[in-house]
Amino acid sequence: MSRREKIERAMRNRQKDLALYLYKVSNPHNLSAIIRTAEAVGVPSIYFTMEEDVPFEISSGVTMGAHKWVNLHEVEEPDSFLEEMKRKGFNLVATALRGDAIHFRNYDFTQKTLIIMGNESRGLDEWVIEKADYTIIIPMYGMVQSLNVSVAAAVILYEALRQREEKGKYPG
Ligand SMILES: C[S@@+](CC[C@H](N)C(=O)[O-])C[C@H]1O[C@@H](n2cnc3c(N)ncnc32)[C@H](O)[C@@H]1O
Repeated sequence: MSRREKIERAMRNRQKDLALYLYKVSNPHNLSAIIRTAEAVGVPSIYFTMEEDVPFEISSGVTMGAHKWVNLHEVEEPDSFLEEMKRKGFNLVATALRGDAIHFRNYDFTQKTLIIMGNESRGLDEWVIEKADYTIIIPMYGMVQSLNVSVAAAVILYEALRQREEKGKYPG
């Protein structure tokens, strides 16, 4: 496949109604790994909010160039951003380790969706979870409480891809 054909295929398969919000994800390796996975799934826009005094840094050795193919937007006012996304018709889907969260496969990712990932140590702030329309969890049956955030993002994004493929949202 020529480079031009590859670009055309990537544009055809972009999921304009699927977006990702990285809320205070801090580790450059995690940010980069998530960007790479999101690009592979056709997520066109990634929004992020950094913690105070933590710069947004990515490693091109990890993204392998994926950061050039997604729109990266810094969000300075998380609350109004989430309101705006709601107004645009996105379901706000928080990811969190909570007993009342729904199994991630039981959420319908073919809907217009903003997936929200949280900080490596503290997860998502309570107010974000309260504001979300849904909270989803990836089941954990071992001894550790949570997955690495980039692994969790990959599991969730590929479930979104699976559901969307079934609905014909990836023309190929
Ligand atoms: C390492 S976890 C944070 C753990 C934190 N102690 C907590 O209780 O949320 C970092 C982020 O990865 C995602 N994550 C990790 N494991 C998950 C799981 N099993 N289900 C849903 N999201 C998960 C969430 O976005 C979470 O905010």
